[in-house]
Amino acid sequence: MPTSSATAIAHPNIAFIKYWGNRDNDLRLPMNGSISMNLADLTTRTRVTFDPSFPSDIFDLNGKRQSGDSLSRVVKHLDFIRGLRGFSTHAHVFSENSFPTGAGIASSASAFAALTLAAVGALGLEIPEPNLSRLARRGSGSACRSIPAGITEWRKGRSDLDSFAVTVAAPDYWPLADCIAVVEEGQKKVGSSEGHTTAATSPLQVARVGDSERRLDQCRNAIQKKDFQALAEIIELDSNMMHAVMITSKPPLFYWEPATLNIMQAVQAWRKTGIPAAYTLDAGPNVHVICEVEKVEAIQRRLTALPGVKQIITSSIGGAAHLV
Ligand code: DP6
Repeated sequence: MPTSSATAIAHPNIAFIKYWGNRDNDLRLPMNGSISMNLADLTTRTRVTFDPSFPSDIFDLNGKRQSGDSLSRVVKHLDFIRGLRGFSTHAHVFSENSFPTGAGIASSASAFAALTLAAVGALGLEIPEPNLSRLARRGSGSACRSIPAGITEWRKGRSDLDSFAVTVAAPDYWPLADCIAVVEEGQKKVGSSEGHTTAATSPLQVARVGDSERRLDQCRNAIQKKDFQALAEIIELDSNMMHAVMITSKPPLFYWEPATLNIMQAVQAWRKTGIPAAYTLDAGPNVHVICEVEKVEAIQRRLTALPGVKQIITSSIGGAAHLV
């Protein structure tokens, strides 16, 4: 094939109902469905160039040549996408995050959504959105939710064929924001991929998964009715349940720092006094405070006053991954 190139932009997402544990780690088929919102103000921009003269794949992330696990995960995903049509040409992947790398913000969702779209674009393949979401899922589960726009739901599906994400609410349906209180700027200690493999060792995972359809229903209903109080209750419960599984796994995964718990308690206290805010956490100590856009400044002010908050990154709801 001749040299060909494409560039894609994708947003990371924050889950309202979490993905934690796979029933098939290789295919990344999740134990339960999940719902998240894309983060408009954070982006990953990735250019993929296939060139027959390249002896191997090259991956540059934020200006740094990658090796080891970071490179192999990208090569594995490129191999998977090339394999769809029997291509073998190597690629140069050039990727940049708009958000600080050390801010402890999960980037695998936007990374694999952008990589999938750019690689598919550079190979000249026309692939409909559900299938792009399926492909992104193979690179990182949460990446499938960064393919469609807005608030998206990843249906767990019965097999690889129907496990992908769809939009449940367009970006402008309900003006929500995420104020991320960064309490630790370093890389997380145990990555999500490793975490998923230990989820089943917690005796609480069965209960978490067993109750997931109910939580998904409640979350969908809260979104449909734009009922913030209902959304707040279900996303905090879901985040607490995932962290209950994490701390009771073997080995236990404790992601919270003292500042984390302090922020969670503050958010609950604010809500009691009528300030609509809710917390949710990923596999890390930073607290995502979800609120309505008009309350962002008040929340930012309050978060800044709490001990241990090193920076606040704010975003509204983002669109779909797209080629540029
Ligand atoms: C806690 O999608 O990062 O953020 O599929 O191994 O790449 P891999 O895991 P990943 O897991 C995300 C876990 C989470 C919850 C969520 O985003 O739903």
